[in-house]
Amino acid sequence: MSLLGKRILLIVSGGIAAYKALELVRLLRAAGCGVTCVLSRAGGHFVTPLSLQALSESKVYTDLFSLTDESEMGHIQLSRAADLLVVAPASADLLARMAAGLADDLAATVLLATDKPVLVAPAMNVRMWQHPATAANMATLAARGVRVIGPDEGAMACNEFGPGRLAEPPAILAAITALLAPAPGPLAGKHALVTSGPTHEPIDPVRYIANRSSGRQGHAIAAALAALGARVTLVRGPVTVPDPAGVTVVRVETAQQMLDACLDALPADIAVCAAAVADWRVAGAASGKIKKSPGAPPPVLDLVPNPDILALLSAPRPDRPRLVVGFAAETDALDENAAAKRLRKGCDWIVANDVSPATGIMGGEDNTVHLLTAAGIEDWPRLPKTEVAQRLAARIAAALA
Ligand code: CTP
Repeated sequence: MSLLGKRILLIVSGGIAAYKALELVRLLRAAGCGVTCVLSRAGGHFVTPLSLQALSESKVYTDLFSLTDESEMGHIQLSRAADLLVVAPASADLLARMAAGLADDLAATVLLATDKPVLVAPAMNVRMWQHPATAANMATLAARGVRVIGPDEGAMACNEFGPGRLAEPPAILAAITALLAPAPGPLAGKHALVTSGPTHEPIDPVRYIANRSSGRQGHAIAAALAALGARVTLVRGPVTVPDPAGVTVVRVETAQQMLDACLDALPADIAVCAAAVADWRVAGAASGKIKKSPGAPPPVLDLVPNPDILALLSAPRPDRPRLVVGFAAETDALDENAAAKRLRKGCDWIVANDVSPATGIMGGEDNTVHLLTAAGIEDWPRLPKTEVAQRLAARIAAALA
């Protein structure tokens, strides 16, 4: 895993965390990278071009309309001469301009003109990070393949606490290394298909049947499999959690669309069905909004079963994935119901979890699961969903080794 000879274009935007960009430049140089910096006007209030230049040992670019720079290296060339563009810190303002596709300064222009991967390390006040506008901008950028590191949670310069701190420079360096010089990983060369989130089944154009799945567990599994080197296709229903970096994301709404996307993604070596697929859809959803009429009884929904994606992927067929893993969301008789479900659906493993409201699992951050295989049942401790995902990915890698 060597960054020797890699070229980074580091874009430093405004914010108190900009001073950490200096440490990042130092770490990148020590790792053997060539670093060229672009300092935004706001960033220039927090660090000087001179300090970035001294540490990077390269010219620092600050102004879109410098004719000298344009004759030496035009902004288009600047945007493409690197292996990776890193924005650290990435302010709410620059992220919004990226999402909108603006080119109103040099930083935004190179980000719009580049054909290279982009990694952003957001840093801002917690309320700005949590604002729906920033969340929407991050979702837009993630959908375009922009990679994200952080932000970290903690005390902030503005005396508030929460997510919004710039990721530490060693963590940003690790994210850069993972992108530019990834370790081969035990799942290298394997294709994993993961379903995640709920499905929405329309009643009419404005109403739908849904469930409380957040997509956290499925998304974490997709990320964990990718971290072990798998090529991952994540077919996901409507969720608000960010899509993981480095995976191919297919966005769907209904169970039927999810099935079609899964079949399109085959062949796969591994399938993990973590989505909370709606069991039923409304027969003949109305094409116009269903109106109330005075005195008329409420409409009766006629439900028909949805296809069972897990059972279809598990069924014997030439391109059946080697390992099919299902989930069992239960509120009663967890182990018995999950064992019966494993046999009924024909999958190899079932990850069973108790989704009774008191557990807080559905939509929450943690999960307590039982892994059912042909060999028996393993009880795992209550863990963050990210750790459940890492354990499961490691087990999958071991099973396919
Ligand atoms: N599943 C699926 N397609 C469906 C329903 C479920 O792929 N139409 C998958 C889920 O992704 C999960 C597993 O089947 O991996 C079990 O889902 P669960 O909701 O626990 O079970 P159901 O099959 O819906 O059965 P029941 O609701 O009776 O428990």
